[in-house]
Amino acid sequence: MTDNIKLIGKDGLRLDGRKADELRPIKIQAGVLDNADGSAYLEWGNNKVLVAVYGPREAQPKYLQNPAKAIVQVTYNMAAFSSDERVRPGPNRRATEISKITAEALENVILTNQFPRASIDVYIEVIEADAGTRCAGLTAASVAVADAGIPMMNMVSSCAAGKIDGQIVLDLGKKEDNFGQADLPIGLVARTGEIVLLQMDGHLTQDEFKTALKMAMEACKHIHGLQQEALRSRYAVNFADMDDGEAEQ
Ligand code: CDP
Repeated sequence: MTDNIKLIGKDGLRLDGRKADELRPIKIQAGVLDNADGSAYLEWGNNKVLVAVYGPREAQPKYLQNPAKAIVQVTYNMAAFSSDERVRPGPNRRATEISKITAEALENVILTNQFPRASIDVYIEVIEADAGTRCAGLTAASVAVADAGIPMMNMVSSCAAGKIDGQIVLDLGKKEDNFGQADLPIGLVARTGEIVLLQMDGHLTQDEFKTALKMAMEACKHIHGLQQEALRSRYAVNFADMDDGEAEQ
């Protein structure tokens, strides 16, 4: 993170025309893959993320099994074509880190103790990346886990706030992430206010941290509504489409 380009204009707007506390547009669709137990597709600005969930199923190899609860295994992957520079295929430190923090966030909400020795496998494929993919991945993964019918207390909603040109802003885009001063991605259980993911890159004062955290938490509450809406549209029964006999059954 360096700050050698101007990221906020004289009009107070950001490079893509957003206000400080404005999210990029988000679209979420649940149940997009036939071969997975649960799935979700999410577009967040120019990020495109596909998530497939399998399980609960017997954890393999057996030494991974926990007799008290299911394990949550997340594989985050950026497609080779997801960025303007080719991404080298296969695991790397960053993908391993994002997989780990996403699994830990989800373990807080999934009722793993109902499925001893099982594994819940979550595959996050980033098809296009434009900063904020860990938040996009975790948000979509929560919808996909719910879509798989896996018991969970609540969904996790995720979003980042950060600092650019000395100002706290929501949901950093790629240039803002590259040339800004700080990025603070969080994962929030919107219903309880519990924070299950908190990372920080760069520097913030205590006051800036509090402002950024509040901004990201508010955004997570909004995102939670979008996640619920995605599940509602997947499972809503449209009684108007049924003939009378069907509707009465
Ligand atoms: O994506 P997120 O912001 O969660 O993670 P990051 O490590 O802060 O990466 C920021 C952005 O850099 C990604 O969203 C991608 O757009 C880009 N990136 C890339 O193009 N190639 C990589 N190997 C890693 C990151």
